Amino acid sequence: MTISSSSLTTSTRATLPGPCGVRAAWQNLRAFRADLPGFLLKLAREYGDFVQFDFGPFRTYFINHPDLLHQVLVGDASHYYKTRITKAVLRPLLGEGLLISDGELWRRQRRLLQPAFHAARIAAYADTMVQCTLEAMQSWHPGEQRRVDHDMMTLTLEIVIRTLFGEALSPEERDAVGHAVDVGQKHVGEMFKTLFRIPTWVPTPANRELKQAVQVIDALIARFVARYRQSGEDRGDLLSMMLAAVDETGQMTDAQARDEAFTLIVAGHETTANTLSWAWYLLATHPHVEARLHDELQRVLNGRPPTVDDLPNLPYTEVIVKETLRLYPAAYVTAREPITDVTLAGHRIPKGRTILIAPYTVHRDPRWYEQPEAFMPERWLGDLEKRIPRLAYLPFGAGPRICIGNAFAMMEARLILATVAQRFRFVLSAGQRVEPDPMVTLRPRGGLTMQVLAR
Ligand code: HEM
Repeated sequence: MTISSSSLTTSTRATLPGPCGVRAAWQNLRAFRADLPGFLLKLAREYGDFVQFDFGPFRTYFINHPDLLHQVLVGDASHYYKTRITKAVLRPLLGEGLLISDGELWRRQRRLLQPAFHAARIAAYADTMVQCTLEAMQSWHPGEQRRVDHDMMTLTLEIVIRTLFGEALSPEERDAVGHAVDVGQKHVGEMFKTLFRIPTWVPTPANRELKQAVQVIDALIARFVARYRQSGEDRGDLLSMMLAAVDETGQMTDAQARDEAFTLIVAGHETTANTLSWAWYLLATHPHVEARLHDELQRVLNGRPPTVDDLPNLPYTEVIVKETLRLYPAAYVTAREPITDVTLAGHRIPKGRTILIAPYTVHRDPRWYEQPEAFMPERWLGDLEKRIPRLAYLPFGAGPRICIGNAFAMMEARLILATVAQRFRFVLSAGQRVEPDPMVTLRPRGGLTMQVLAR
């Protein structure tokens, strides 16, 4: 059966439905801050696929149908930019990096960075990913309780650093960078939750801490950029590739390389770490899925570490990652603003208004997924992907701004899962509740403490 995408439930009235007005504006703000994914799910269920709501003083729109998402992210993508609020919050860290640049600058940088993420190039990182995982597991002991979310974060940070710079950092450097990244994440999380922000140039204690954190990562990037500029050697790492890339306007400047490297460190590890944390949680709570995973790993790998060539033979490992990304898409919400007045499904949206898009709600829509709240990796083994509208599954976004690290992340998550699950299992304590904490990315609230057992 093909699931039709023509079931768009938008209002035919002149005005869009949704909770607007002064009272609603403050209620929405509270709900938004307390539980953004829950708030958006409720909006979609109560008001349909195209909703307007007041958010404090701002009129905001929320679209929830694959056809509308297609128009904004793919068809008319050039009419929409990343929002000013996203840029204001992230610019102190990412400068004009790919995640938040727009227009001509974004187009050029995407062209220059794209070759570094070419399939063949990425395949060369598989061994590093597995090596980092084997090293991380050396300090895990059966029977102990571990903060699995921390372990995944440390591991994916190590992987992004080694693939970006081509070598491991010293333990002191690694700790300093890990701490700096934590500070940056905390800052960004706080900033997104508050409407009234103190500018980063005001020397508050939090801003001073942020400045120091940025300096640590800047110094690291500067060291590697300088090394490359001196030798001009392509060492096979992402940074060399980025710095070697040329277009008709030349190479990227050191300042631009700094912004892109910073962006890759930030965008390239927390999302994958959260995905893996959710995967361990889901495996622990679905023993039949875990058993089938173990069975596949035993059959295909028989105890040896995986390589990139094994991945096509590990389809169940892949659908576990896909299904985890459906239920807990790390980038659970994104936003755009039109750069000119636009018409969407017959409704005029003025230039500059925020439009929210939430993979989290689309992925839990019963029109596209049977038992949408259930973790069922098998659902992907058939022809589901052909039957649902293209944008009913978008953990990596869509259109020209689709995640540049998409293939990198999918490879990394599968390799880590396959490497770890052959040696260890993780179990939750009886009655332990795990729920999402929607910061900038979707992570388990209060962390994820699990007991490590040997297999
Ligand atoms: C499971 C892991 C990941 C998820 C769920 C994810 C998700 C996303 C999403 C949804 C977007 C688009 C945001 C939007 O349209 O507003 C995006 C963009 C981006 N991601 Fe990822 N990502 C992941 C891993 C990575 C990795 C490993 C890297 C780099 C090594 C990376 C680098 C980027 C960059 C640079 C962009 C901006 C692309 C552009 O605008 O041209 N991501 N990611």
